[in-house]
Amino acid sequence: MQTEYVFDRDFTVGDVNDKVWSSFTEHLGRSIYGGIYDPGKPFSDEHGFRNDVKSVVKGLDLGVVRYPGGNFVSNYNWKDAIGPKQGRRKTMEFAWSSIETNQFGIDDFCQWAQEVGVEPMIAVNLGTGSIRDAAELVEYCNHDSGTYWSDLRIKNGHREPYNVKYWCLGNEMEGSWQAGHLSAEDYAKKAREAAKLMKWVDTDIKLVVCGSSYEMLDAYLEWDRIVLRECLPYIDYVSTHYYTMNHGQGDLEFLSSWRELDRHIGNTRDAIAFTNDKMRGKKDLKICLDEWNVWNFQDIKLDNMEQLAGLTTFELTSAGKWEQHPPILQEKYSLLDALTVGGMGITLLDNVDSVEIACLAQLINVIAPITTDEDGNVLKQTIYYPFEALTQYARGTVLRSSVHGDDLETTMGRVPVIHAAAVHNRDAREIRIFALNSDLRNPAEFSPVFRGFGSPRLVRHLTLSGEDLQARNTFDKPDSVVMRSMAPADGATVELPAASWNVLIYSE
Ligand code: AHR
Repeated sequence: MQTEYVFDRDFTVGDVNDKVWSSFTEHLGRSIYGGIYDPGKPFSDEHGFRNDVKSVVKGLDLGVVRYPGGNFVSNYNWKDAIGPKQGRRKTMEFAWSSIETNQFGIDDFCQWAQEVGVEPMIAVNLGTGSIRDAAELVEYCNHDSGTYWSDLRIKNGHREPYNVKYWCLGNEMEGSWQAGHLSAEDYAKKAREAAKLMKWVDTDIKLVVCGSSYEMLDAYLEWDRIVLRECLPYIDYVSTHYYTMNHGQGDLEFLSSWRELDRHIGNTRDAIAFTNDKMRGKKDLKICLDEWNVWNFQDIKLDNMEQLAGLTTFELTSAGKWEQHPPILQEKYSLLDALTVGGMGITLLDNVDSVEIACLAQLINVIAPITTDEDGNVLKQTIYYPFEALTQYARGTVLRSSVHGDDLETTMGRVPVIHAAAVHNRDAREIRIFALNSDLRNPAEFSPVFRGFGSPRLVRHLTLSGEDLQARNTFDKPDSVVMRSMAPADGATVELPAASWNVLIYSE
């Protein structure tokens, strides 16, 4: 099977914003406790931050890390988790029916973010929280001194403000599973007022409003129309989430989830365009895809996402009720999952003109590329590898492409055998191509044609592939699924292994 992609130096989609390669960590299971934070352990530093996790996260070179939720944030009182640790109260956490010890809070997160070199992106509670709590959190984090909350931060040992720039106005507020869930009209007003107050405290911040995420809900997109109309003058980004699940639809169909993601992003983009036209506005709102991943619900007793509608709680995991940091949602990812994540990463590149922030959800232990055990070991799951390759190489300007080639029949219609995108990195004088071969049985021939570049030469070929699509990495066998180097092809055509995700680096 043969596919030709034509890339032209002068026809570009846009630059890859550094925040397209971002992630997310929530007070959920062992994401924070036992993931980022494990005090008193030989493998943790004096603040209780795990050194092994810090060094893997640093290697990813992430843009922002979103915190503290997720569903968690909708009943979170950030004031419970500041100040001396022994005085902090334990609270009932409604999103995951757990006990929250509040031993890790906003100061700890901002300090951790500084250490690993990422920008914090903080979500405020617009479920059970007030707009005043939201503004006070901005004051606590960003105001220099001389007010109650800024002085309290200083008293708590943090002289310098954190200057957190990116703030989410709640999380998935369209879902009835959210504590304090609101109708679109009520959320729109609350988000607008929170936005005003937060920007009054700090005019430099950027705000992400909740767009809708769940296509099975009646509110999907109707929500965006109402919320955007009300909030347009005050916001900078619209959030949407996208998770795909392997629910037996067929391997090829699952692998082609990138097509659904592409459509999903397009829907949010259209909602923004609709609002702009309707309000005769010209606001260049960007999309913040602040949660995306494969999530196979290995630890959730639901058969499919549709059943989520109407649920008010996530009492659906393997945890007993009100456990402290239970090991929930610890998905074990396969090679097929990793290829699917890689395919969706290529789709993010195709959409960099509208997606400026995208957070792989999540970062550690919970539906995550990184897993820790209790003895100080860290494991890179299969999905870590395409994500790492994207964070490392997909920097620069995405080139538009035209494709001529074979496609494959699926129950969702035909999909191209090869899904690819190219990034031109001017500094390195390289064109970096990311290519998924969806033919599960046969290699595919890939022929890139470069216009305006002279004759670029393939200098590196990395591939993620293997015979067993269900192969996983484990603490005993951590390297079953990793990116491997292939000898770069000499000619104009490159053979991509069956069922593979590839990085091809061409020198200009
Ligand atoms: O990432 C897990 C959960 O998925 C988040 O808490 C929520 O925002 C989404 O439903």
